[in-house]
Amino acid sequence: MDQTVIDKLNDILRHEWTGVAQYSQAGFVVTGLMREVYSDMFLDSAKESFGHAKKIGQKISALGGVPTVERNPVKQSTDLTELLEIGLEFESKAVALYTEVLKMVDGKDRPLVILLEDILLEEQEGVDHISLILKDHPGSAASGKSTSKVG
Ligand SMILES: [Fe+2]
Repeated sequence: MDQTVIDKLNDILRHEWTGVAQYSQAGFVVTGLMREVYSDMFLDSAKESFGHAKKIGQKISALGGVPTVERNPVKQSTDLTELLEIGLEFESKAVALYTEVLKMVDGKDRPLVILLEDILLEEQEGVDHISLILKDHPGSAASGKSTSKVG
């Protein structure tokens, strides 16, 4: 497999590792009445990121590459709205990354396309889910914006 594809898959793996730490921390720190709802939601998102990291890491290895152990800087907050905005930004970037790598492998490796498309669908569901939560939410940067599909 093309090294540029392996490098792009490692960019994705780095993003997913970031999600594991970033969403876990969000689940740990969220306080107040909404903790009961959002702590589990963030921790479930961390699990989803780990599930994606597992699939991408295994695929990088199968393609002859070395799966990265690095991650990007983690964005932190203790404010729930900000945590959701950070989550939306994270999911949108994931949609963009999976869309980019899909363009690189389209027509070349059907099983890889299917693997990536399955994950892309889940990333877009993440964008849609958080966008709906933040829609018309006072003080949210996403307030009033339509649910935009990235990529
Ligand atoms: Fe993911």
